[in-house]
Amino acid sequence: MAKGQGPLRTCVVTGAAGFVGSHLCERLLSLEHTVVGVDNFFSGHPENLNPFAAHPRFFFHERSVTEPGLLPGLRAQHGALFAVFHLAAIVSVPYSLEHPAETFQVNTQATLRLLEEAEALGVRTFVFAGSAAEYGDRDRMPLSETDANEDTRWLSPYGESKYWATMAVASRRGNLCGVSLRCFNIYGPRQDPFSPYSGVISRFVDMAVAQRPLTIFGDGLQTRDFVYVTDVVDAYCLAGLRDEENEATRLSGVFNVGSGRATSIVDLARLICRLTQQPESITFGPERPGDIRHSRADIEAITRVLHWMPRIGLEDGLARTIQWMRGSG
Ligand SMILES: NC(=O)c1ccc[n+]([C@@H]2O[C@H](COP(=O)([O-])OP(=O)(O)OC[C@H]3O[C@@H](n4cnc5c(N)ncnc54)[C@H](O)[C@@H]3O)[C@@H](O)[C@H]2O)c1
Repeated sequence: MAKGQGPLRTCVVTGAAGFVGSHLCERLLSLEHTVVGVDNFFSGHPENLNPFAAHPRFFFHERSVTEPGLLPGLRAQHGALFAVFHLAAIVSVPYSLEHPAETFQVNTQATLRLLEEAEALGVRTFVFAGSAAEYGDRDRMPLSETDANEDTRWLSPYGESKYWATMAVASRRGNLCGVSLRCFNIYGPRQDPFSPYSGVISRFVDMAVAQRPLTIFGDGLQTRDFVYVTDVVDAYCLAGLRDEENEATRLSGVFNVGSGRATSIVDLARLICRLTQQPESITFGPERPGDIRHSRADIEAITRVLHWMPRIGLEDGLARTIQWMRGSG
């Protein structure tokens, strides 16, 4: 969406201090919207807000999304809210296994309450951060949106909690459009390599830049679908900022967001070694319990309906991530 196009809107971004949320805030500000960010720093970092914290159209609230009355409070302070981008979540699979009740409270129950509050306030679009984890472990690839259902065997409370929230969001009808974006493996600058559930790319890039061997869990032939963070932000904007004057463009639903390509972990490791000009120093550790074998998105629906396509190829995205890691290291 080009700068200056369309009416300027007030958008809420939950999880604003996180990896993806901070990129989304930055983009919305660059499109000249007003952004109200919410985060409790459970896994996000204040430094992620630094590039835009002083922007005159950015407002930040250190609050939990589990607090009832969050959106009415923001509406009272900031005026009419056009869109809610709900990215705040417990994102760690191991943490979700240890704390299932808290995971459902934050990832599912808080989402249901925010949806109700948004509807009551006349918010037009509610875009939810769904996840490929909603599919559990499936053999058939690529994964299409109908492959997650009530019979899915989820590998973690994280995946299941996201599934039920997605179902509530995507079944919204009426004035509020609810869209869940089921993102696959997102990577890029600001992804924390030190968190207990950091993405494999941020860990590998961190190891390679520090000239340490890259450790692969398992045989390295497991595959993932990697999508660059600015492509994901494109998808959020397309879903959340649609021209609501035109009824024909309104939609609720669930869409995969991925590259549509499978990359094996060992190929990824080799590519990162090459791009960081390191010798191929790769070690293999035991397979991690709960890890899925393969993952690849069918992106036909989002391409057809939202006209979204990934624009940043893996090599290009890795080069940008490496450059950022070197600059911030
Ligand atoms: N990174 C990925 O590969 C990926 C893939 C699929 C889906 N997602 C989803 O995208 C969203 C963003 O993920 P991310 O990778 O940026 O993770 P992140 O941990 O960087 O961001 C999540 C943010 O939510 C905040 N948060 C957690 N609980 C909160 C609460 N109760 N109240 C307010 N804020 C709270 C955290 O502090 C953090 O800033 C998440 O919902 C995640 O499940 C991420």
